[in-house]
Amino acid sequence: MQTVTLTRQGQVAIASLDNPPVNALSAALRADLLQALTQAMAEAEVTALVIAAQGKAFIAGADISEFGKPPAPPILPDLLAAIENAPKPVVAAIEGVALGGGLEVGLACHGRVASPAARLGLPEIKLGLIPGAGGTQRLPRLIGAAAAFPMMLSGEPIPAQKALTLGLVDKLVEADAVGAAVALAQELAGKGTPVKTSARTDKLTESERAAFETLAKDALAKSGEMPNVAALVEAVRGALTLPLAEGLATERALFVKLLGDERSKALRYVFFAEREAAKVPGIDDSVKPRPIARAAVIGAGTMGGGIAMCFANAGIPVTLIETTQEQIDKGHARVRDTYGFSVKRGSMTEAVREQRMALITPAVGLAAAAEADIVIEAAFEEMGVKREIFGALDRIAKPGAILASNTSYLDLAEIAAVTSRPADVLGLHFFSPANVMKLLEIVRPAGVANDVVATAIALGRKLGKVPVVVGNCFGFVGNRLLEARTRAAERLLVAGALPHEVDAALTGFGFKMGPFAMSDLAGNDISWRSRKARGKSAAVADAICERGWFGQKTGRGYYRYPEGARAGERDPEVEALIAEVSASKGVTRRSFTAEEILARLLDPMVNEGARILDEGIATRASDIDTVWLNGYNWPAWRGGPMHWADSVGLDAIVKRLEQQAAESGDASLEPAPLLRKLAAEGKGFASLRA
Ligand code: CAA
Repeated sequence: MQTVTLTRQGQVAIASLDNPPVNALSAALRADLLQALTQAMAEAEVTALVIAAQGKAFIAGADISEFGKPPAPPILPDLLAAIENAPKPVVAAIEGVALGGGLEVGLACHGRVASPAARLGLPEIKLGLIPGAGGTQRLPRLIGAAAAFPMMLSGEPIPAQKALTLGLVDKLVEADAVGAAVALAQELAGKGTPVKTSARTDKLTESERAAFETLAKDALAKSGEMPNVAALVEAVRGALTLPLAEGLATERALFVKLLGDERSKALRYVFFAEREAAKVPGIDDSVKPRPIARAAVIGAGTMGGGIAMCFANAGIPVTLIETTQEQIDKGHARVRDTYGFSVKRGSMTEAVREQRMALITPAVGLAAAAEADIVIEAAFEEMGVKREIFGALDRIAKPGAILASNTSYLDLAEIAAVTSRPADVLGLHFFSPANVMKLLEIVRPAGVANDVVATAIALGRKLGKVPVVVGNCFGFVGNRLLEARTRAAERLLVAGALPHEVDAALTGFGFKMGPFAMSDLAGNDISWRSRKARGKSAAVADAICERGWFGQKTGRGYYRYPEGARAGERDPEVEALIAEVSASKGVTRRSFTAEEILARLLDPMVNEGARILDEGIATRASDIDTVWLNGYNWPAWRGGPMHWADSVGLDAIVKRLEQQAAESGDASLEPAPLLRKLAAEGKGFASLRA
């Protein structure tokens, strides 16, 4: 298929890109664009060329799916050199996004026109990379390193208006960006040989360099595990100190090295995993989502308030409902305060806060849900409470309204069964804090209608979430893996490890917090109550709760929290208590290396993931990863638990689990059939993809 069409407007040729969905710079597009450029330059009557695009994006960058394959010519740097060195001016007409290689195309042009809705950015850093086609060399020359470096470091696109202020685009036009680009191209053609961005030196000043070095120092100090920050600093420094050809060569070498880095591979895997998650069996484009113009949230606790904020942030009016005036006043005030933190931090204006608050209507009593197109229940986590609410909602909600529960564990089919419209009932599991965490687990009980699931997916995206559709079972996907890890952490304590050792193994792996620090923060009593309700026990965790050591809120948990301290300190009494538990079970305590601890924590999660796949609760292994990356802060550069398992090798995991199962007599540690099968075949979870 031809991806570029060449037309003419007077003496200006227009190369129009058409490579759906986002005009990624695939090998075909690169070849077609080079061909169009060559043709336009060869035609005597053509004085200039405009590069424009069909569809929602100008160019979304390199085709990420081609990374890792041998590069097909023309490679992007060569195409850009051809554009920049063209004898006639080339102007970019940027509508929609110009990202990564897409912005680099723009930078190689001799002029840039944008529409107000355009967004321009170099997001490579988020994929563990750096710009690889001259972005680190041309952007500092065009707008100065002090503005260019933060853009590349954050990877966040900037709006067209800001790009105009920075000098990244020459003109902003409300309508007909292509027409304006043609006019600019004609104007440049009248001025003789086009000026190359890479030939500019006016921004390569000493003060820009000093400002960049200050920013670079700060960035390096915060770079953590990611090697691409240092690479970015080196490349940008090259722009300021090296001749262009050397700067470009340095950038390319750094880029190619990062392409092979496991951390970057994991981040690219995550990019596609998140998009893949939105593809759900039985739900294609023919299933039309229901319109959602108004929502209601039942329960104005931390969770309900956070969910209401998600709607307000997306511009959807929402009624926040409680049972008493006092409770709704409290919940409503908490939402206002939460926005207040953003105002104080400077990330939100007072006016925006008021706009958002105006979209949230506080109300008492379920009758206020009558007008909502979707009702999300975020009340107490108890089946009796849920049944009562859904029974009432069945009478109150308008026909066709979607009835959702935010339950973290409970059976959606049982909840749906109390209504006369089970096809409209599903789970929408938000993660705390709901206005921040990206994950939305969409729980699909057997009887729910496909258009209800499609609505939930579309709504999730509108709310800025990463939706993942999962099956209906106790704990769904995320909390089943969490429970496997929690039990593993308890087993480790009994066997000889201490809380700080377990936590350190996990933070060393890249998590922000270990399981015990996390439990102390959330409140140890929460899981204690849940264990008791299910007739389960955990010797150490129960003993700690029996002493009232519920975590940070009581000043003691697995750690001690002296007045004002946020980080816990080791507690000799807790450590003695753990030793007592081991003794009471006849366990001779032994020490564990961080590596052993990590394997004992993560292997059971992978095992549970394999069971989840076998049961069809998750559609694909990458969905499990997407859940843990966006809901449980699994470090993105590690790609998620199933991706991690593939990188370790399933055979090694099976052997370790077998050994642990034999040692402990705990049948839940026996490798799941799917895990055994894949390991025996020498395959990974990635091989399950169709
Ligand atoms: N390469 C390949 N496919 C891409 C892509 C890319 N750069 N960007 C998006 N896509 C695909 C997505 O996988 C998705 O495909 P499916 O529909 O089959 O799932 C489709 O395009 C639409 O994407 P989204 O669902 O994300 O649509 P959106 O409208 O929400 O967002 C977007 C569009 C803002 C362009 C977003 O997709 C995005 O941010 N893309 C990545 C941009 C990026 O990181 N570019 C830099 C690449 S690295 C680079 O460019 C280096 C270099 O040149 C040397």
